Amino acid sequence: MGKAKTILDIRRQYEEGVKITMLTAYDYPLARLLDRAGIDIILIGDSLGTVVAGHDTTLPVTLEEMIYHTRMVVRGTQKALVVADLPFLSYQVDLSSARLNAGRLLKEGGAHAVKLEGGTAMRDTIRALVDMDIPVMGHVGLTPQSVNRMGGYRVQGRKEEDAQRILEDAHAVAEAGAFSVVLEGVPATLAERITAELPIPTIGIGAGVHCSGQVLVTHDMLGLCDKFSPKFVKKYVDLAALLGKVFETYIDEVKEGIFPAEEHSF
Ligand code: KIV
Repeated sequence: MGKAKTILDIRRQYEEGVKITMLTAYDYPLARLLDRAGIDIILIGDSLGTVVAGHDTTLPVTLEEMIYHTRMVVRGTQKALVVADLPFLSYQVDLSSARLNAGRLLKEGGAHAVKLEGGTAMRDTIRALVDMDIPVMGHVGLTPQSVNRMGGYRVQGRKEEDAQRILEDAHAVAEAGAFSVVLEGVPATLAERITAELPIPTIGIGAGVHCSGQVLVTHDMLGLCDKFSPKFVKKYVDLAALLGKVFETYIDEVKEGIFPAEEHSF
């Protein structure tokens, strides 16, 4: 049983030029599998609102739900750094509620760090959390909690002025003291530039190969969600099809009296 990674290990890995790997988990069994496989960071993403709870967006996810899922993940994790998302409305209202809610993810959830969406506008919030020793991962570019402003989940920063704004956002996050930043849904050339300019690691999703690390929503890469499959997701396995067959086999076997067999009976 090795010791858990810290943000200092992530920093060291970045300085040594070793790519950082991150995947999402929302419960104990998946966290155990990711941890055993050697993932660097497990993210309890508020994407659980869509891939686990079946909402259309991440906006309905509550802090209580994030704490509940973070606890499950922490119980299944021994080696990875555990980062929990601050959900919509838990950090934007004022600094004291941001401090309290981020603190609850560490104190009650057991996370090692929090992630929040936004750039320049979140500078003071990130600083306030870092000042109370809560490590923060930023998230700029396509920020799913801004779906109503963006008019959907679209690639951000295609126009020069938008690219400039995202670059400034990423710099603001780093200057405020974040230990890393997620770059989501931005052109690969922009992500490459941000990664080259920033003094902290960038973790890309739909941001090309030049980031310091990569993240995917695990349910997407496992092919568990057939509702929505963005271009940037590589489906490593089609679990929806595979599990569908498994469930059909079980139904047939029960109906035909094949299961339970002798060895499953007392
Ligand atoms: O909520 C989430 O899973 C995320 C990742 C996509 C980075 O924010």
